[in-house]
Amino acid sequence: MTYLEDIHPEESAYFKKLRAFAAKKDIPIITLETMRFLRQLLIMKKPKKILEIGTAMGFSACFFASVLPGVKITTIERDPAMQALAEATFSASPYEASITLLKEDALDIDTTTTPKPIDFIFIDGAKAQNIKFFEKFEKQLNPNGLIVVDNVLFHDMIDQKITSKNLRQLIGKIDRFNRYITQKQGYDTAIHAIGDGLAVAIKQGE
Ligand SMILES: C[S@@+](CC[C@H](N)C(=O)[O-])C[C@H]1O[C@@H](n2cnc3c(N)ncnc32)[C@H](O)[C@@H]1O
Repeated sequence: MTYLEDIHPEESAYFKKLRAFAAKKDIPIITLETMRFLRQLLIMKKPKKILEIGTAMGFSACFFASVLPGVKITTIERDPAMQALAEATFSASPYEASITLLKEDALDIDTTTTPKPIDFIFIDGAKAQNIKFFEKFEKQLNPNGLIVVDNVLFHDMIDQKITSKNLRQLIGKIDRFNRYITQKQGYDTAIHAIGDGLAVAIKQGE
């Protein structure tokens, strides 16, 4: 156990059980460190509507709902196996009423039909598509709203020499996104070495 895991309160039994299931099935979900940071952002920001890209089994959506009773979460997942797992997670959870699962590719969604304006967007889908996700959904974000993107340091490989061509291409796309988001006009952005790397972009107010 790391020092930080040792000194913070343990994860609740509910999320521990979901995390153990994710580990058993090899489903990537937010780390404990990421959860602690996101919890603080959510408490400070108090979003009324959250949009998530990349539901997987529904762990992070349930976590958001647990932090903010009454919040409305729309979460998008394209993989039918994950959609089925997420539906099972939501219906067995106390958070079902807060969460809407859209079973589509996020890049195919008709945004005229999705809830808006959004106060908090969590991008956690295919890492090579981050710029497309950002450009598609940022239009729906309220001024002073937040866009948080996970895995932007990609297992600390972002500045390493990688031999595999596919991995090098993926890392190149993540690097391009990181440069794009840190320089994006109209946003104040910082990348934090938390969990697998989190970008936090705050949309400038009007
Ligand atoms: C890292 S997992 C999400 C983990 C989840 N946010 C959590 O922490 O519990 C990424 C998920 O995004 C989904 N995904 C990837 N690209 C997508 C897209 N374009 N549209 C919808 N879902 C996508 C994948 O199928 C996968 O289940």
